[in-house]
Amino acid sequence: MTITDHYAVFGHPINHSKSPRIHRLFAEQTGQALEYTAQDVPAEQFQKAVSTFFAEGGKGLNCTVPLKELAWGYADHKTERAQLSKAVNTLARQADDSLLGDNTDGIGLATDLIDNHGLDLSGIRILILGAGGASRGIILPLLEQVPQTLVIANRTVDKAVNLAAEFHNRGPISGCGFDDLNRQFDLILNATSASLSGQLPPLPAGLLAENGVCYDLAYGNEPTAFVLWGLENHAAKSLDGLGMLVEQAAEAFFIWRGVRPNTQPVIELLNSER
Ligand code: ATR
Repeated sequence: MTITDHYAVFGHPINHSKSPRIHRLFAEQTGQALEYTAQDVPAEQFQKAVSTFFAEGGKGLNCTVPLKELAWGYADHKTERAQLSKAVNTLARQADDSLLGDNTDGIGLATDLIDNHGLDLSGIRILILGAGGASRGIILPLLEQVPQTLVIANRTVDKAVNLAAEFHNRGPISGCGFDDLNRQFDLILNATSASLSGQLPPLPAGLLAENGVCYDLAYGNEPTAFVLWGLENHAAKSLDGLGMLVEQAAEAFFIWRGVRPNTQPVIELLNSER
């Protein structure tokens, strides 16, 4: 009898998640025998759902909104990148049955920007909009590319300043409010939750440098409000987070299975369907 390893994504809401599709495509492509399901898990049910999943033999979990901080608290041990991002999107059962928590969002973004879109982040001026959990998860991989500067701008200014201070020994990072944005940036990343509801932070004209790139961590079948802002502001590229989604999934798949899927055909397929 073949035993099929079980993986899942937990989140709330979860019905539109593309993760089961992505992981099934990876499994098919790499010849790995596994099943991957999606489960609607509100925050208050997380503890019970996760312990049941692993008690029943589950091998690994992805956790998405609003569970990443809870998964961080649940993991027995964590990678450094998960430790610093204070969020876990991947739990992996280890040989001794302990649970390793990792966060593959940041590396997923960096891979999409660098490998898929050919960007060189070294020496450039980067702006992140938002200072919540999504921003925290991408700071370290961006600083590792040695940009000239990394600015975090947020509606609640203190949160941007405090978040930047946490990473001050990792690179040239600072925090400010949207009103303080009086410089140009080569890469602007939207990590606010505003674009999910079609809203945009107040951004001054001329914020994006010539040949600059915009990237929304969110994605949808229609261009997000920030992707449209990028197009209106003559961005060389104005991208959404579909590539990041596939790349973070590939990194999780690698952690679980030790095999790296080819992400290109999966990104192309998902792009062709919207
Ligand atoms: P996530 O985990 O998705 O990052 P979060 O931690 O709740 O979610 O953070 C949401 C981010 O989006 C915050 O930076 C928030 O700004 P505040 O810290 O000032 O609340 C930002 N945000 C949400 N709605 C926004 C809006 N309409 N305009 C500007 N920023 C917004």
